[in-house]
Amino acid sequence: MERVRGAGAVLAVLVVLGAPPAAGEELSGVFQEMLKGECHFINGTEQVRLVVRKIYNREQYMHFDSDVGVFVGDTPYGEKVARNWNSQQEILEDYRAAMDTFCRHNYEIITPFTVNRRVPPSVSISLVPSSSQPGPGRLLCSGMDFYPAPVQVRWFQDGQELPEHVVATDVVPSGDWSCQVLVMLEMPPRRGVTYSCQVEHVSLEHPLSRHWEMPPDTVRSKILVGVGGFVLGLVFLALGLGFYLWEKSS
Ligand SMILES: *[C@@H]1O[C@H](CO)[C@@H](O)[C@H](O)[C@H]1NC(C)=O
Repeated sequence: MERVRGAGAVLAVLVVLGAPPAAGEELSGVFQEMLKGECHFINGTEQVRLVVRKIYNREQYMHFDSDVGVFVGDTPYGEKVARNWNSQQEILEDYRAAMDTFCRHNYEIITPFTVNRRVPPSVSISLVPSSSQPGPGRLLCSGMDFYPAPVQVRWFQDGQELPEHVVATDVVPSGDWSCQVLVMLEMPPRRGVTYSCQVEHVSLEHPLSRHWEMPPDTVRSKILVGVGGFVLGLVFLALGLGFYLWEKSS
């Protein structure tokens, strides 16, 4: 496999530490020279723009923009460097060719695992208890670990789409080339209704659906058991009391 000459945006950082510190001393300074190469791809490699930035201690002092074709100074010092570099035909030609030798070259290599990266979402439905709202809680549909970001999540109730009462977070990038989204149904789920969360994503051939139904009502059955036990207790109490009074009177 060909070697990657740099990623889409390359950082080359040279850090020079001032006077190495003796034990317990502070550094006298940090001197940082940075070079950033940005490749901008518009519609694949149909239109490519290269921007190279030269930065010293966080200040950009010179840049090269392939739309311009020469070095441009951004500070008085940078203007001097730009005049020098622009007078060297070899450097200029290198940078002008870099759109092809660097940007287009790398695009072909990194495309399989960047532009073409497809990771399907893991979808699940959970019942989130809500203390501020009445009812058993709210249904939350989570789409996790997918890539790229564009995604569509819909809620259905017995097969009918619920376009309202749906609140979604933004699609959140996790920082590891995956994204997350949460979509809440803003109404209490009802018994006997099937709720479905449907996710469409470029990684999926068909929309992905998860279904949810209210589980058997354990609270109500506990109440029934409690009431039944209480009634049974009352019956025995009455029987015992009656028996006692009957014994006493006879
Ligand atoms: C994108 O590039 C392709 C060729 O690579 C071209 O056929 C298509 O028309 C371009 N699309 C746009 C929107 O410019």
